[in-house]
Amino acid sequence: MIDIHTHICYGVDDGAQEFIDSVDMLYMAAESYTGAVVLTPHTNLPGNSSNLWGPSLSEKFKRIRNAAIDSDLPLQVFFGQEIFFDENTVDLFRKGYLITINNSRYPLVEFDFGVDFDYCRNSLEQLLKEGLVPVIAHPERYNFVSEDHDAAFKLRQMGCIIQLDKDSVLGNFGRSSYVNAKTLLSNHIAQVVASDCHSTFTRSPDLKECFDYIADAYDFDYAAELFELNPGRILRDMAL
Ligand SMILES: [Fe+2]
Repeated sequence: MIDIHTHICYGVDDGAQEFIDSVDMLYMAAESYTGAVVLTPHTNLPGNSSNLWGPSLSEKFKRIRNAAIDSDLPLQVFFGQEIFFDENTVDLFRKGYLITINNSRYPLVEFDFGVDFDYCRNSLEQLLKEGLVPVIAHPERYNFVSEDHDAAFKLRQMGCIIQLDKDSVLGNFGRSSYVNAKTLLSNHIAQVVASDCHSTFTRSPDLKECFDYIADAYDFDYAAELFELNPGRILRDMAL
């Protein structure tokens, strides 16, 4: 499996705090059959995590990648960011302060859970105009999707990618995101499931339980598409 949304990088957000936490998360990912992870720390998050691209972030990323290599883990480490969209985002991309998933056309983008649908759609249009294809982080957790499931379909129709969090699928974030995830899976609107992992004990990197659940409750081929094929296409900058 390929996990394109993780908070494995230490000391930059509310995910891993120390280097050893990052290493523990890599081990857990590898043990649960994940063969590649993308490091996607919160970036441009107001009053919280800035994490603009530069030497400080890139040194930490390289240290984590080297830890996987030195430990002979059967797991590759790639670079990205989970970018909070605001009025500066397009400019920050143009100036090189933001990066996409493994240098592809696909940035991972998040919004406030209470974001207005029209604001979200307009923001994503701005990124599409730049030639980027936004992967929308956990839309099933946004209020406007709870109010109207078709909203997620409209965003997908625009060309955006719909990424669900495994903990929404498993019901660990409460009823609303669970129901939304279920609807997006039943209608095959969801294109990727990722861990959005923050530690080894809560919101963990273990994707296997969720893969098995979807393979069983929906179908195996769809599970393979969500956890392996589509994330792989994103990593290789291929169309979905
Ligand atoms: Fe995240």
